Amino acid sequence: MKPDCYAVVGNPIGHSLSPRIHMLFAAQTNQSMVYEARLGRPGHFAEDVRHWFRTGLRGLNVTVPFKEEAFRLVDRRTARAQRAGAVNTVWAEADGTLTGDNTDGTGFLRDLRIRLDLDLADREILILGAGGATRGLLEPLLAEAPARLVIANRTPARAVALVESFAQLAGTTQLEASGLASIPDGPYDLLINATAAGLGTHGLSLPPGLLAGTSLAYDLVYGPASRPFLDWAREQGAGSVTDGLGMLVEQAAESFTAWRGVRPDTTPVLRELRETLDTP
Ligand code: ATR
Repeated sequence: MKPDCYAVVGNPIGHSLSPRIHMLFAAQTNQSMVYEARLGRPGHFAEDVRHWFRTGLRGLNVTVPFKEEAFRLVDRRTARAQRAGAVNTVWAEADGTLTGDNTDGTGFLRDLRIRLDLDLADREILILGAGGATRGLLEPLLAEAPARLVIANRTPARAVALVESFAQLAGTTQLEASGLASIPDGPYDLLINATAAGLGTHGLSLPPGLLAGTSLAYDLVYGPASRPFLDWAREQGAGSVTDGLGMLVEQAAESFTAWRGVRPDTTPVLRELRETLDTP
């Protein structure tokens, strides 16, 4: 029997680790499947994806810059995808209709809880950035009932808009917006960099002393691109720092579980990637 076919679509897509991660999961759980990287064509995304599913694709991961387009394309969305406003995982139902899910936020939380052993209840969190990446994290973060969650963004109005649209999920959490120059004093237990910018000439400019007493600085980006931010966080006194490779593997495991009904063990996969990649 032919193996089931899965893919990731993005643009660019050449350096995606997803094929490697999913093939390691497949080997570990004895699943007969292939997983390939496909270059998305701007302007033809919906047409291409529908064609792929009509011709046998079983499931698709979606990465930059197509997550919002995937959200619009699918026939129905899971609750967490609806809330995130973006889709990173698609599968076909028996009748051929497409369901879209978003596993990024859950992947991030699993990485924090399982690998980093961080319990966010009653903690103080600072998120830098108010784009799609932040939107995808807010529901699962608020579900952990932190004491305070500050969203700081270069364009403060975007942070304010996110606070307004998630206010009904805040529960006991004090949910606040700010600009980058006026971030409320910490200490924060967790600082998340969810901006598209590293630090440096054209990167983030943040108040000195911001990180005093911060326990963990987490960059959603992984590999060398996260180095400037993580170096800065270390210099500023963060207790520990991590890039987003753990989140990448965990969100992949969530997609794999949704498709195959079996949960892979992420620990050996993350270890293998760390051994062969240039990561901070
Ligand atoms: P994503 O889906 O990856 O979150 P996005 O919606 O384009 O992408 O959002 C990018 C985020 O990075 C935004 O918060 C953006 O700030 P603005 O809303 O002010 O544009 C932030 N960002 C990008 N470049 C930045 C820079 N040089 N300094 C500070 N923030 C930056």
